[in-house]
Amino acid sequence: MKLLVTGGAGFIGSNFIRYMIKAHPGDTIINFDALTYAGNPENLEDVQNNPHYHFVHGDICNEELLYFVVDQFAVDTIVNFAAASHVDRSIYEPGLFIKTNVLGTQTLLEVAKNKHIKKYLQISTDEVYGSLGSAGYFTEATPLAPNSPYAASKASADMIVRSYFETYGLDINITRCANNYGPWHFPEKLIPLIIINALENKELPVYGDGKNIRDWLYVDDHCAAIDLVLHQGKPGEVFNIGNHHEMRNIDLVTLILDKLNKPHRLINYVSDRPGHDRRYAIDASKIKAELGWQPQYRFETGINETIQWYLTHKKWWQKIRSGAYKSYYKHQYGSAIE
Ligand code: NAD
Ligand code: TYD
Repeated sequence: MKLLVTGGAGFIGSNFIRYMIKAHPGDTIINFDALTYAGNPENLEDVQNNPHYHFVHGDICNEELLYFVVDQFAVDTIVNFAAASHVDRSIYEPGLFIKTNVLGTQTLLEVAKNKHIKKYLQISTDEVYGSLGSAGYFTEATPLAPNSPYAASKASADMIVRSYFETYGLDINITRCANNYGPWHFPEKLIPLIIINALENKELPVYGDGKNIRDWLYVDDHCAAIDLVLHQGKPGEVFNIGNHHEMRNIDLVTLILDKLNKPHRLINYVSDRPGHDRRYAIDASKIKAELGWQPQYRFETGINETIQWYLTHKKWWQKIRSGAYKSYYKHQYGSAIE
């Protein structure tokens, strides 16, 4: 396979590239990434000299460069991770999310169609389904009802991907995964933010009443599911990915504090996120039944490994916690928190 991975320098993309190099050592992987604040070449330092791995600095809105790269490497498969991915940022800067997540996706699809790409996989999210009440699960048949500009941009992209299948016959799949956690997770998202702030004895911002529920999946399990969909997904199909690990945010935050032997008084309830979805919960029975996907990580194992990773990779996150990130942090949380 000659695989173009967009957004491969981010959290899930970098874990996926490492996963694929191990699982399919003969494949060629081209990581096409704009290196926004969330893209970090250090995430892939250990594979950068692998002869089957190539990095191209580029924006998925740049059609000309995409054609060049597809030709140059004879790309036959595309997985699109590239996105503006943080809900809070989408509230301040919705236009960027539309540009990258909607226009970027359409640009990539156009190239995929014109270059007769064999498989195009769109990495989407369960957030396109909106919010659940206290019962029930998202299935692939749940209507899309996104609430944040981020979720709306991802839902729009999904619709455009679908149209390239229906109209042009491009072989596409869409995966919609629950919240991921694991190594190389950018420390603006809940789990890495909590681990790092706790390690530095800083306050832990919990939105609203802390009772919003997220469904957590270890990133390697997501990567294995993507690999399966790429190889076996029937054209045009959507697959939900998740492992029924729902937790209230406050319970997750206290669990991390307890594991780090840090006091609960670090918790600081802050203003709620506007449009904050109450509960996500994924029904992944389709991918399990049709493709035989089975998650390997129990939450207890995954979270212990993740905490351990942040303890042993202080240099990685200390570097990130400076400059542009600091000014965003001030904007988001105000002066109450450093
Ligand atoms: P991330 O923010 O860590 O990484 C995004 C990557 O995309 C970065 O490397 C960034 O430089 C790159 N990028 C951004 N704009 C680009 C552009 N215009 N052109 C090329 N590259 C660009 O995000 P993540 O958490 O790794 O998420 C990856 C994908 O998975 C996203 O599409 C996201 O919607 C989806 N997803 C994430 C989660 C999660 O829990 N993190 C869950 C489900 C789905
Ligand atoms: P996040 O990691 O941003 O993922 P998403 O919003 O895409 O699910 O947030 C996970 C949950 O944690 C979400 O309910 C919002 C909440 N949260 C906080 O309470 N405090 C924070 O500082 C952040 C970033 C998130």
